[in-house]
Amino acid sequence: MSPELMLTAPLKTFFNLSDRLSANFRLVGRYGQQRIDGWENIIFYGDNYEIMKCLLSENIIREQVALIYIDPPFGTNQDFKTGSSRTISKCRDDDTAYSDRLTGKEYISFLHKRMTLLKTLLSRKGSIYVHIDWKMCHYVKIMMDEVFGQENFINNITRVKCNPKSFKRKAYGNMTDAILFYSKTDDYIWNDQREEFSEEQIKILFPKVDNKGRNYTTLPLHAPGETQNGPTGKEWKNRMPPKGSHWQYSPEELDKLDEQGLIEWSSSGNPRRIYYADEAAAKGKKRQDIWEFKDPQYPVYPTEKNLNMLKVIIEASSNQDDLVMDCFAGSGTTLVAAELLGRRWIGIDRSKLAIEAVHKKLIATNNVSAYAIYEVY
Ligand SMILES: C[S@@+](CC[C@H](N)C(=O)[O-])C[C@H]1O[C@@H](n2cnc3c(N)ncnc32)[C@H](O)[C@@H]1O
Repeated sequence: MSPELMLTAPLKTFFNLSDRLSANFRLVGRYGQQRIDGWENIIFYGDNYEIMKCLLSENIIREQVALIYIDPPFGTNQDFKTGSSRTISKCRDDDTAYSDRLTGKEYISFLHKRMTLLKTLLSRKGSIYVHIDWKMCHYVKIMMDEVFGQENFINNITRVKCNPKSFKRKAYGNMTDAILFYSKTDDYIWNDQREEFSEEQIKILFPKVDNKGRNYTTLPLHAPGETQNGPTGKEWKNRMPPKGSHWQYSPEELDKLDEQGLIEWSSSGNPRRIYYADEAAAKGKKRQDIWEFKDPQYPVYPTEKNLNMLKVIIEASSNQDDLVMDCFAGSGTTLVAAELLGRRWIGIDRSKLAIEAVHKKLIATNNVSAYAIYEVY
């Protein structure tokens, strides 16, 4: 954009959600620096079902949320406590951060009720990520299929959450949980995520070295499937593509690659495409569906999630200034990641300790943008 255009480009503005809240909500406090676009982020203290119902009945943010991440209780039938000396505590006298006492059918129905409201809050281009453990994952998947449609199920991400454990139980150690990713429609926001290759991976994947010292590997020039009449089914340099396959390039493109020295011929005269490690490293490798993001070793709140994991999700499935929501906010990992990445955000939690933990994290964030805390009557 030219500097003149930049000067005249209209400023994006948003309505202030606080101005539209009914008397059901009581302001607890306002913090951070005012945003020039008029928006104010919000933390709601209360039950997420009641709050979402209120927001929807007042028709405030229907179909406006670009991304929802939730990490609800997992139906473990236990209380999560927090003590003054240790964040995660099993002492009877310590404060309960939150209770996870609903199990089985009751648990699924609790989530289902919330899921239908979340779907209404999601924009047409929006998506939802649900973090869940291996015990509940399959039941939640079936319920999510019903609410969001099987056709909108995008990924089942396996998250490596901890180091290998050694315990006495007659079972394999559990190091993973799951994140179910659904979109609202097939036209959803997607920013492809790439990862760096490690030195080890480069050595394994690009084992050959050319005469200039560059690491490379070779890839087939053909792919499965025969071309009926097109150029990729024709002879090139007196060779037909192997039976049942076609060239991945036209004969002209193959000539060009060969002239550029990007085709390696085997001793039996088999051509393969040269792919250099430095080219691959510059592009990075596409992020796959197994993620290693271990949770903080010294959490400020029980079951606090990894901030970098949330950053990946937010970058992939939302754009600058989009609205991100977490209605099981806990210590606000999603909200902090959204804040750091320049997204607008809304968080909800019914635990006082969670609201205190979020507030503590946000207020310590450099130049945190304006946010308000509300509780519900
Ligand atoms: C697993 S923790 C979330 C942890 C969070 N992802 C983090 O990184 O800190 C689940 C949270 O959901 C909250 N919660 C459970 N049921 C709720 C409800 N009905 N309404 C609002 N919050 C609820 C609990 O208070 C708890 O803080």
